[in-house]
Amino acid sequence: MDKFVIECGARLVGEVQTGGAKNAVLPLMAAGLLVDDWLTLTNVPRLKDIDTLCGLMRFMGAEIDGDPATGTLKVRASKITKPEAPYDLVKTMRASILVLGPLVARCKEARVSLPGGCAIGARPINLHLAGLEKMGATIEIEHGYIHIRAEKLIGAKIYLDAPTVTGTENLMLAAVLADGQTVIENAAMEPEVVCLADALNKMGARITGAGTDIIKIEGVTKLKPVEVEVIPDRIEAGTFMIGAAMTRGNVLIKDCPINYLETLAVKLKETGTTITEEEGGVRVIGDWPIRSVDFRTQPYPAFPTDMQAQMMAMMTISGGLSVISETVFENRFMHVSELKRMGADIKIDGRVAIVTGVERLSGAPLMATDLRASASLILAGLVAEGTTEVSRIYHLDRGYENIEKKLGGLGANITRVKDEAKKK
Ligand code: EPU
Repeated sequence: MDKFVIECGARLVGEVQTGGAKNAVLPLMAAGLLVDDWLTLTNVPRLKDIDTLCGLMRFMGAEIDGDPATGTLKVRASKITKPEAPYDLVKTMRASILVLGPLVARCKEARVSLPGGCAIGARPINLHLAGLEKMGATIEIEHGYIHIRAEKLIGAKIYLDAPTVTGTENLMLAAVLADGQTVIENAAMEPEVVCLADALNKMGARITGAGTDIIKIEGVTKLKPVEVEVIPDRIEAGTFMIGAAMTRGNVLIKDCPINYLETLAVKLKETGTTITEEEGGVRVIGDWPIRSVDFRTQPYPAFPTDMQAQMMAMMTISGGLSVISETVFENRFMHVSELKRMGADIKIDGRVAIVTGVERLSGAPLMATDLRASASLILAGLVAEGTTEVSRIYHLDRGYENIEKKLGGLGANITRVKDEAKKK
């Protein structure tokens, strides 16, 4: 398995470009299943999760084209020969469930593997299924697969018990071609949901309210293929913001979607970090000692769960005590035991972590456990004394494009070491 070797001591200084948002690209690709000609996406990053969805869409009969060098990805689903998502593909990426809504809308029938458990929580999809049932679909679960059928989906009023992001997207994708009006209440308000709604509207859908907790969708009979620019990745940009702040760096993050990162910016400012908007980007200047802050993850626009691990890494070297509550996922503290191996002082009580800042972390061999946890270990490695090795970095490759190149460009001493066994 490849690993990263990080040497301590660098202040991150310079400029870094934010890439397109993984969590926006995936539902946009699924939207490609709703039209029979090329849907073109631009500003698409090169990521493992996107390759996985390309593989799944090809399996179903869609064509995929584009030029990774220019960040263009094209999807054409003129025919869907197999409306199926097999377990082998779904198990590597839970977001594959996003094909469920479009497949039933377009093909009237689909067979999609139930995603299994996940490192960060149980992550059920009951709300996706209940919403589709409300729209008239019949659902049977057998042998680990969801078998869904609907001669015609009918608009419905759907209340989500939790504002699920991919659930909201799946239901929007199903409702755009349904008969009549669908109303999704307690909808997710994340920027990626808005990006999908904007794209669908450009394709001819009639969606209002995206970005609020009530989304209304008037069904239409046909959508047209268009070109869509993917929004910048707020989590990647936020990871660089924290990196700059905790290394006492000075970084201009280009195309940083600061308007989607307000809660993170507020918390970083409380730590003593300076954040200013400049032409083309956002400048982040870190200062020591880092003041400790408390925070609580919640759905957008509150503090994102996808930034919790990285911010916790920063708190491990703060000058005080930080209380961190994770309310979105029940098991998203997997990075804690690794950070503790570096000398961090962290106590966990259920969904609350209490971090007492220490003077310094010390480099150690570490194991990445999930995507954002991996990013937190890399950030910790930047400030830890000595050498840090982070293995299992395939988690990181799912969602950060070329992180070693981007951090290296800012002065970090980080090297990807290829697995010897794989090289042979
Ligand atoms: N939930 C249910 N039932 C459902 C769906 C969700 O109870 O049917 C619960 C979950 O168990 C969880 C909460 O609702 O407690 C929120 O989960 P949500 O469905 O919003 O998460 P998701 O859609 O599976 C997306 C992102 C995640 C991100 C979360 C929360 C994508 C592809 N994934 O997941 O991103 O953490 O929203 O913001 O958009 C990542 O990029 O590293 C990542 C994990």
